[in-house]
Amino acid sequence: MRILRIFVFLMLLTVAIGSENLNSHVFPRPLIIAYPENNENQLKCTSWRFAIETNNLSPWKTIPEECADYVREYIVGPGYKMDIDRVSNEAGEYAKSVDLGDDGRDVWVFDVDETLLSNLPYYSDHGYGLEVFDSVEFDKWVEKGTAPALGSSLKLYQEVLSLGFKVFLLTGRSERHRSVTVENLMNTGFHDWHKLILRGSDDHGKTATTFKSERRNEIVEEGFRIVGNSGDQWSDLLGSSMSNRSFKLPNPIYYIP
Ligand SMILES: *[C@@H]1O[C@H](CO)[C@@H](O)[C@H](O)[C@H]1NC(C)=O
Repeated sequence: MRILRIFVFLMLLTVAIGSENLNSHVFPRPLIIAYPENNENQLKCTSWRFAIETNNLSPWKTIPEECADYVREYIVGPGYKMDIDRVSNEAGEYAKSVDLGDDGRDVWVFDVDETLLSNLPYYSDHGYGLEVFDSVEFDKWVEKGTAPALGSSLKLYQEVLSLGFKVFLLTGRSERHRSVTVENLMNTGFHDWHKLILRGSDDHGKTATTFKSERRNEIVEEGFRIVGNSGDQWSDLLGSSMSNRSFKLPNPIYYIP
């Protein structure tokens, strides 16, 4: 009895090994692709970032808690810079391709925060978008006037100027921050803009989309042609008197309607 059992066992083993060799090119069924858990989180956060950058998911107030590490790593790692460099390069290619009129009325519009100037020193102290926006704290940071330039935006800025575009700066910053904003921009290498437009007392309470559309309408009414527009928010780019081409810089940290 015992010998028989060993015999049967050996026979089954032989069959098992044999069939494994024969079918070694066949994957076991069912096929389940199992991502390790943090990889799945990474995928979810990449999907979330795609949704917010494309404006499919809006409005939103803070980044998802489970994406805190993901967003921080994207911002401080090479990803954020790579994305910004790409946007600026493409904008530069487009700017070079445009035949400018000889009347000096071709315009490139730039937003300021997270477009020309970076507030990452502030956001690094506030969880990179994990905390609800605190305008009082943020104003204190703005008033220091020490925001660094986004390097590839500075390059684009200089490029469009040298091509002959008039540069308009259109920012949601308040008019009372004009002088500190001018100082901050000049200290970081931005010069020779045609006009810096900030939110006046009549503009408070307007969405950025409305405020910026109204100001773009005025630019167009003055006879300018808005050829290009660079901004990190969709509210910098959408609405009326839109530019021929809009260039959306990445910003997974905050959303402004
Ligand atoms: C921008 O768009 C307007 C209106 O569609 C068009 O007439 C003009 O040629 C465009 N300009 C450039 C530089 O593409």
